[in-house]
Formats: sequence, C-alpha cells, structure tokens
Amino acid sequence: MKKLVFATNNQHKTEEIRAALEGKYEILNLEDIGCLVDIPETADTFEGNATLKSSYVVAHFNLDCFADDSGLEIEALNNEPGVYSARYSGSRDNIENIQLVLKKLEGIANRKARFKTVISLMQNGENHIFEGTIEGTIRTTLSGSNGFGYDPIFEPDGYESTFAEMDLAEKNKISHRAIALRKMMEFLKGQL
Ligand code: IMP
Repeated sequence: MKKLVFATNNQHKTEEIRAALEGKYEILNLEDIGCLVDIPETADTFEGNATLKSSYVVAHFNLDCFADDSGLEIEALNNEPGVYSARYSGSRDNIENIQLVLKKLEGIANRKARFKTVISLMQNGENHIFEGTIEGTIRTTLSGSNGFGYDPIFEPDGYESTFAEMDLAEKNKISHRAIALRKMMEFLKGQL
C-alpha cells in the first residue's frame, strides 16, 4: 500500500483520515515518521504555510505528504486574523483571541466572516492545492462549549447555532476542514 504522511501531530485528525482512506493509503503522521521538529509556519497565506509543512516532510523524509492550514477571515477586519488566528492576541488562549475579535468589531455592523482551510498535497514532486470555506457571521457574545478556537462566536450561514453549540459530528460534516479534506480524498480515490 502507498504511504502518505499527514503533517500533523493531532491524533484525532490522523484517525479521521485513516478511516476515510482505509485499505487505499497507509496514513502516517509526524510522530509515526519520527519528525519531532516544530515545522516553521512563517508564510503570510494559508497556502504558503500548508506548503511549507508538506515540502519539509518531502525534503527530509522523501515521502509523499499533505498538510493543512486554517483560520478565520473577518471581512470588516481586512480578513484578519487569517494566518494569525492561533495567536491573534499574542497568546494561544482561545478566550483572549475571541475577546480581541469582539473588541475590534464593537460598533461594526458588518459581521461577515469565513473559516478557511487550505491543504497542500505534495505527490511525486507536484503540489496539489485543495480549499474549503464556510461562510458565516460573528456573534456579539460567546455561545456553546464544544469545539475549539473561535467556535463560540461563529454562526455558519443557514444555522441558528454557533459551531460550539453543534455536536462535533455535525460540525465535522460542514466545516471548512471537512470540505477541503473531501476534495483531496476524491482526488486520491480517483487515482486508484
Ligand atoms: P489550524 O491551522 O487548523 O491549526 O488552525 C489555526 C487556528 O485557526 C486555530 O488555532 C484556531 O484559532 C483557528 N481555527 C481553525 N479552524 C477552526 C475551527 O474549526 N474552529 C475554530 N477555530 C478554528
């Protein structure tokens, strides 16, 4: 079976992909291949960061690899926090990051935002890019306790609950990450 590295340390993300590609690809994560470094994510686009991670693995381990990078883009804030989503307030604290967003949006009527994921799949030296987005609005207060990151203030269009009020299975069906992953999996399945 062909080996494919997922450049992540997140066991949950790894299992999800493993299950979806079972019998077709052997999915290895960074720990499985003994890659213990924190791969720098210094680009200023999602595509750039995803590609930095996937190319690092190809260069150092000579294995095909894919990597994802995600974040929240808020229209009225010139698409901030974007690639800085994880550390927008200067810390990795989700609540501090959310509070900064709410403060910057005080008195602003345009609450439009989207979550975006970009996947870079490096296969036989070629970079294939897959994108997933989900549009929504930023609430004025936090609601719900599931999920992570900005989930308590993001309400996807067509729903009356935030991501943090949905159960994980429901969020994982419609999320930006799910959309990008489905596109990549269709591409991979089409090769077999
Ligand atoms: P990553 O590239 O998937 O690690 O995402 C970077 C950052 O974007 C996270 O630390 C979160 O702050 C934010 N983010 C990405 N995806 C989500 C999501 O599904 N819900 C809430 N926040 C997210």
